[in-house]
Amino acid sequence: MQIDFDNFYGEDYLKIYGEDLERRTQAEVEFIDSTLNLKPGAKVLDLFCGYGRHAILLGKLNYQIVGIETSQYLLDVGLKKIEEAKLKENISFLKLNPADINFSNEFDAVINMYTSFGFYESDEQNFNLIEKSYNMLKPGGKFLLDLVNREKVISLQPSKNWEEREGLFVLEAYNFNHLKGRAITRRIILSNGLRKEGYISIRLYTLAELKNSMENVGFKINKVYGDYDGSLYNSQSPRMIPLVVKE
Ligand SMILES: C[S@@+](CC[C@H](N)C(=O)[O-])C[C@H]1O[C@@H](n2cnc3c(N)ncnc32)[C@H](O)[C@@H]1O
Repeated sequence: MQIDFDNFYGEDYLKIYGEDLERRTQAEVEFIDSTLNLKPGAKVLDLFCGYGRHAILLGKLNYQIVGIETSQYLLDVGLKKIEEAKLKENISFLKLNPADINFSNEFDAVINMYTSFGFYESDEQNFNLIEKSYNMLKPGGKFLLDLVNREKVISLQPSKNWEEREGLFVLEAYNFNHLKGRAITRRIILSNGLRKEGYISIRLYTLAELKNSMENVGFKINKVYGDYDGSLYNSQSPRMIPLVVKE
């Protein structure tokens, strides 16, 4: 089954998760700012920026941000927010498919936030994003990959959840397919008698697998964080966030 990004990450996504996302953003941006430790005006690429919740706060901190996203709906929401915040000088958004990303030696940092990695079926395509991130960076540039912690996820699944948000009834079922190493979320939304169904499947790599793929392209591991408070990774951490450097 193909993931329909525009559908899964469209209007319903923000209705369901928007408030949670906003609540998390300040702490996430403080973490990005302190771990990257860049000079004012540094150039940062936000790979799969969503509606730019990190990009906007980073722009306020005077970074120069380029956000890449495929969902037109999220980009439109982000563009409106940039205009309202008068940050058009600092932030630009590009609607680009990953295959069309072709920057080279341009950025001081690349960030990929909130599990925006692992969507492809093949390891080759997923790891290609790591290689592209490497190529986009200047020498000495940093790549921050913020993922859900696979080991923790496995210990919590299978599970189900239902919620009512803004008139939508949202039913989600989460499973981990051990043979494929993938976390699978099935989402049904009921609204005004209509039923919509979405599906997303994310390859969750072990830290050792990620380390290999990062070192293979030339990155050096600097640290692996387990949460946005700066604590280091362990098997029960909420997140798995490697910070790696282009040699
Ligand atoms: C979980 S959301 C996170 C968005 C944003 N980084 C944030 O923290 O709000 C994942 C985003 O990745 C985008 N995306 C599009 N194509 C993708 C791909 N091939 N791989 C990973 N993410 C992709 C989706 O449209 C979606 O906005």
